[in-house]
Amino acid sequence: MPAYKNSIRFILDGKITEIDFEKEGLSPTQTLLHYLRSLPGHKGTKEGCGEGDCGACTVVLGELINDKIVYKAVDSCLIFLPMVHGKQVITIENLATHKTGKTILHPVQQAVIDENGSQCGFCTPGFIMSIFALYKNETKPSAELIRNALAGNLCRCTGYHALLKATQKVFKEKKEDHFSKNEPKVKALLTGLATKDVITIESRGQRYLKPFTCQQLLELKKTFPDALIVSGSTDCGLKVTKKHEVLPLIIDISDVAQLSVIKKTKNIWHIGAGAKLEIIRNAVKKDLPVLYDMLTVFGSKQIRNMATLGGNVGSASPIGDTLPVLFAHNATVVLQNTKAEREIPIAGFITGYRQTIINKDEVITAIRIPVPDKNSFIKSYKISKRKDLDISTVSACFNLELNGDKVKQIILAFGGMAACTQRALKTENFLKGKVWNEKNVQTAMPLIEKDFSPISDARAGKEMRMMAAKNLLMKLLLDTNEKQIK
Ligand SMILES: Cc1cc2nc3c(=O)[nH]c(=O)nc-3n(C[C@H](O)[C@H](O)[C@H](O)COP(=O)(O)OP(=O)(O)OC[C@H]3O[C@@H](n4cnc5c(N)ncnc54)[C@H](O)[C@@H]3O)c2cc1C
Ligand code: FES
Ligand code: FES
Repeated sequence: MPAYKNSIRFILDGKITEIDFEKEGLSPTQTLLHYLRSLPGHKGTKEGCGEGDCGACTVVLGELINDKIVYKAVDSCLIFLPMVHGKQVITIENLATHKTGKTILHPVQQAVIDENGSQCGFCTPGFIMSIFALYKNETKPSAELIRNALAGNLCRCTGYHALLKATQKVFKEKKEDHFSKNEPKVKALLTGLATKDVITIESRGQRYLKPFTCQQLLELKKTFPDALIVSGSTDCGLKVTKKHEVLPLIIDISDVAQLSVIKKTKNIWHIGAGAKLEIIRNAVKKDLPVLYDMLTVFGSKQIRNMATLGGNVGSASPIGDTLPVLFAHNATVVLQNTKAEREIPIAGFITGYRQTIINKDEVITAIRIPVPDKNSFIKSYKISKRKDLDISTVSACFNLELNGDKVKQIILAFGGMAACTQRALKTENFLKGKVWNEKNVQTAMPLIEKDFSPISDARAGKEMRMMAAKNLLMKLLLDTNEKQIK
């Protein structure tokens, strides 16, 4: 296995590309998007928002997982270049093939043309890459799956109807493409790129460290306690693209395989901190349906293909969407340093606005979520301006257990109502032991004012937040009644 110093290697245009950051004067936090656009043949990847919201920069990454190439649509504007080490980068320019002066379009490109799926064309490469990733991963996607795959791409002029039709059309006559034919060659190249040695990049005054094992990661965090951990980079990426920060010291944990493990032991889901949200979403659909529901309205497919659960917990944002769900499930956070491991209940882990109890030499290695008791009724709600690809104004997850018609236990966890995710403890205490009916819920609703004093910001006024939180309690009652009727 080769050792890499100041350099990374990946596949682009079917060949191995090597970048030596120091020699080429490149910053290790250069985004994949900017790198691609600096090349003569890759300007089809567009820059729109630069923050993961428009999908114009969508490319597909091919990754070797269990001897199979898995294709994922991602926003290249949020990816630091070293994150693509050992992967295949596929851009819009790679889709068509060229033979003796003739261009043969990929079936996805042809379907978009046939269905008039492009007007100004700015969004088109991004849409085609999202449809292409779906084409590589599915055989007969449902309408819901297609909509879900396109939710991370914005189009201002063609509109979605033609693009949805094009996607349906391409699956009707699905055939093998040149990527399938070339897979054995690409697999061999990817296998040759694998390494288990830490990659160290020092360039333009920045130090970027990329471990591959947990042990390496913990040693690095001990040596460099001030290093910024970057996992999916869907939060950290914005520090560079929007705030123009120069990050001096980074530990990139996106390829630490042990952190991606997802397994169920007894009645507990152990989710590695580095597991990608889209993979978690598919794994827990049956056992943790409320987490599945929340992840379905989390960002977009491109975001979920990169973002991790450890990143959502680690950022401790007051509007982190998985947090109320983890509170309502009594989840725990596993922290580790070189010497020991400790397991902390999620409510004790978060201490304030984007603050946690994590020590500088520790990393989050996993989140443990108990499978809910069959007597618990758990429900999550996300209130945002639009359903897809929007952050929450208010989010909530409630866990209710009844004894007969009385409340035995209740957890009311809210996001967007305080500086961090919090339970409405006064309201919970009032409801405990009471009959779960409209009268008592109506009486409990004003108590939410004693639990929270939300702020007004660009997303909503404090009055709206308060009203939404109270009404969600009533919604829970209506949803429990509906469940009983069923
Ligand atoms: C377009 C867009 C849409 C989004 N939509 C949503 C949404 O709907 N809901 C929502 O909640 N969020 C959303 N986000 C925010 C973001 O995607 C999530 O917070 C995501 O879970 C972050 O995960 P990550 O792996 O990308 O974290 P990173 O950006 O890599 O890291 C985030 C923070 O966590 C720390 N961290 C990460 N992993 C660890 C670890 N193992 N140990 C210790 N610290 C760690 C990092 O140091 C950093 O401070 C969105 C972001 C974008 C750009
Ligand atoms: S440029 Fe808009 S998502 Fe990347
Ligand atoms: S074709 Fe113009 S933005 Fe989609």
